[in-house]
Amino acid sequence: MSETVYVLNGPNLNLLGTREPEIYGSATLDDIAGMLEDRARELGLEIDLRQSNHEGHLVDWLHEAQAVGAKGVLLNAGAFTHTSVALHDAIKAIRTPVIEVHLSNPHTREAFRHKSYVGMAAKATIAGFGPLSYLLALEGASRL
Ligand code: DQA
Repeated sequence: MSETVYVLNGPNLNLLGTREPEIYGSATLDDIAGMLEDRARELGLEIDLRQSNHEGHLVDWLHEAQAVGAKGVLLNAGAFTHTSVALHDAIKAIRTPVIEVHLSNPHTREAFRHKSYVGMAAKATIAGFGPLSYLLALEGASRL
C-alpha cells in the first residue's frame, strides 16, 4: 500500500489568498501545500496536491487514487460539495477513504451550503479551521 495521500481541491481554490480573505484567510494553496508537505514528511507520508475548476477532473482523480493504492484522499470540492452527485457517486465507488475538508464552516453560512453530497459519502468531515482543517484531516488520514 502506497503511503501517498491525495489532496484534491475544487473550483476557485486556486484563488486562495485573494479570494474573499475575510472568509478563507490569506494563505494560498501553495502555502497549504507547503504546510502539508512538512507534516507529511514527519508522518512518513507523501502528498499529491491538485486543484481543478472542472468536476470531471475531480472524479477522475478519485478513481486514480484508488487505482494507485493511495492511503486516503483529502477532498475540498469547493462549491461542487453542494451540487455534485457525480462526486458523491465517485466517493462511493472507491474503497479509498475520503475525508471532506473545508476552510470555512459551511453550516454557519448560506442555506445552500448546508447540504453536502461529498459529506454524505465521505468517511469524515473537517471544517471551519481555515488551513488547519487540511492539517487535521492529514492527521486523521495518517491514522487510517
Ligand atoms: C469551501 C466551502 C464551499 O461552500 C465553497 O463553495 C468553497 C470553499 C471551504 O473550503 O470553505 O469554494 O469548500
